[in-house]
Amino acid sequence: MKKINVITIDGPSASGKGSLAKNIANQFGIDILDSGSLYRLYAYFTELKFDSVEIQNKISNEIKFELKDMSIDIKYKSKNISNEIRSEDIAKFASKLSTRSEVRQSLYSIQRNFYMQKGLVADGRDMGTVVFKDAKLKIFLTASIEERAKRRYLELQNRGQEVNMPDLMADIEQRDFKDRSRDLSPLFPADDAHIIDSSNMSAEEVFLCTKKLYEKEFY
Ligand code: DC
Repeated sequence: MKKINVITIDGPSASGKGSLAKNIANQFGIDILDSGSLYRLYAYFTELKFDSVEIQNKISNEIKFELKDMSIDIKYKSKNISNEIRSEDIAKFASKLSTRSEVRQSLYSIQRNFYMQKGLVADGRDMGTVVFKDAKLKIFLTASIEERAKRRYLELQNRGQEVNMPDLMADIEQRDFKDRSRDLSPLFPADDAHIIDSSNMSAEEVFLCTKKLYEKEFY
């Protein structure tokens, strides 16, 4: 299989995939795909009562993704909807919708279209196993449930959202279970993925470890 200039970062909720992907994109000047945000957008537009064809069109043509330092702004009709789509409610609905074949199928080519000449870092659940099987480098990033809940708690708090730790842990555990046990594209590491357990690592250490692998594969 001919390998393409893509680095995939898969793993469970709040394992640090997003921060790692943004660091990689900034450091190496490559494009970024936060595939979870596409599932969240699907949920967002479903709540607004659009049908699947309209949703596919909207995500392809009417949404602008802008990487700004360590955040990706998501704009719809010039309105910044980043905070809305990153709520826990939308996450739960996205997880539910992501079990449907028609939803996964409709997002497949949109995800592949993020790959351009300059290279791509793509994070999600099935980037290395399904969407970019031909990626040059695959990372599977994981961490203990306690550590992930702590990180998500701080993230939501920083965004001014109300959070309750026991509820958050229960939500993450439930989402993990759903993501791992679904029939379509369940969450698991690709055979050729490098597994990094970040429970006792700082974000900087995870980045340096991935950077080494990137430099080995890409140069
Ligand atoms: O990464 P995230 O929390 O933003 O993802 C939200 C939901 O979308 C997640 O619970 C499962 C689904 N998802 C998926 O099925 N496949 C992906 N590649 C990314 C996300």
